Amino acid sequence: MPTCKCQAFNLEELVLQTQKTGGTVIEIMQDIQDHYRYLPQKVLRELSRLMEVPLSRIVSISTFYKAFTLVPRGRCPLRVCLGTACHVSGAPRVLERLESELGLKAGEGVTKDGLFSIDAVRCVGACSLAPTLVAGDITFGKITPGKVSAILDELRGQYESAPAVQEPVVAVG
Ligand code: FES
Repeated sequence: MPTCKCQAFNLEELVLQTQKTGGTVIEIMQDIQDHYRYLPQKVLRELSRLMEVPLSRIVSISTFYKAFTLVPRGRCPLRVCLGTACHVSGAPRVLERLESELGLKAGEGVTKDGLFSIDAVRCVGACSLAPTLVAGDITFGKITPGKVSAILDELRGQYESAPAVQEPVVAVG
């Protein structure tokens, strides 16, 4: 189950440490995303101020790299593969069922309980298991729409006790 390694997130301290070691703004963005599971706008604004890097540059980095997201993610992010092997094996129907069960469209934030988000992605490297669904760290293979409900129940059991991430509390410069 993914959890952030840091107990508290101190952006200013992280920036100072990164500057001392010659690290890059991208490294800090990775830490921000690891902590919040996405890149909150107010944190990016503060990062821009502290690093003296234009916000437009930071936003451009965050949209260039697929690893970054500007949209909040659930404690258990769901990634439905729509790569070729999964697509021809019925992944679009799995995605439809997932969206219908959760009342949430892919790429549109998180469920009300903060547990799930859905993303449609390209090949996750498990084509022999197509269609695949990656839930947090777990890869489910040979998924059918009929299995979706049981998988969600299983994941609720595992992730309901996962700690929620606090919304960013940073001074806005
Ligand atoms: S196409 Fe889905 S895992 Fe490769």
